[in-house]
Amino acid sequence: MSSSRLSPVPRRWRNEISRVLISESQIRRRITVLAREIQRDFHGRDLVVVSLLNGTVMFLADLIRHLELPLRLDFMGVSSYRDGTESRQLIYTKELRLDVKGRDVVLVDDILDTGKTLHSVLAKLRQLKPRRIKVCVLLEKSARRVERVRADYIGFHVPDEFVVGYGLDFAERYRNLPFVGVLKPEVRAGPYSTSFSM
Ligand code: IMP
Ligand code: MG
Repeated sequence: MSSSRLSPVPRRWRNEISRVLISESQIRRRITVLAREIQRDFHGRDLVVVSLLNGTVMFLADLIRHLELPLRLDFMGVSSYRDGTESRQLIYTKELRLDVKGRDVVLVDDILDTGKTLHSVLAKLRQLKPRRIKVCVLLEKSARRVERVRADYIGFHVPDEFVVGYGLDFAERYRNLPFVGVLKPEVRAGPYSTSFSM
């Protein structure tokens, strides 16, 4: 990841964000390339895009508006509950409604980190017998991987730092930032730290 020396942190966020990791324009350019790849790979197919709530909100909207393919869209809600220890439990807060049997699926998530989320979601989706599933993530953080999961389309590889913005949150905040930034460690230790995050 090249650092964005040309993108200073907007004044409003300077107390909380240490630097802009990926700027709005970098994201915009990269998404047009990802969309082109997906379009090429699913040409002539009846595609179902399955997006994981809530972190994909901005990425998904920008990605699918560049897809000139017939597609249907559905969501799955997955939340990761932290009980104060390192162990996490996944809770499904919304189930898929569209039938994906025999269909081509692109599964969209915000970030592939330990891989636990996508590992669980992929296992669940495979039971529904789609024709094939490809995984598309905005960010990939390989340093903390514990499950063998790989993404087929990756926006950006990021270092082992906690990032927020462009849909990604810390304790449900910062999703509205138009860029991806690094959260200051003191914010993570502060009063917003709660047990639910996705
Ligand atoms: P995994 O299950 O560890 O691969 O993590 C997937 C989920 O953890 C993502 O969908 C995010 O919600 C969350 N996550 C992991 N790393 C970060 C980060 O750096 N910032 C914000 N959320 C993250
Ligand atoms: Mg998420």
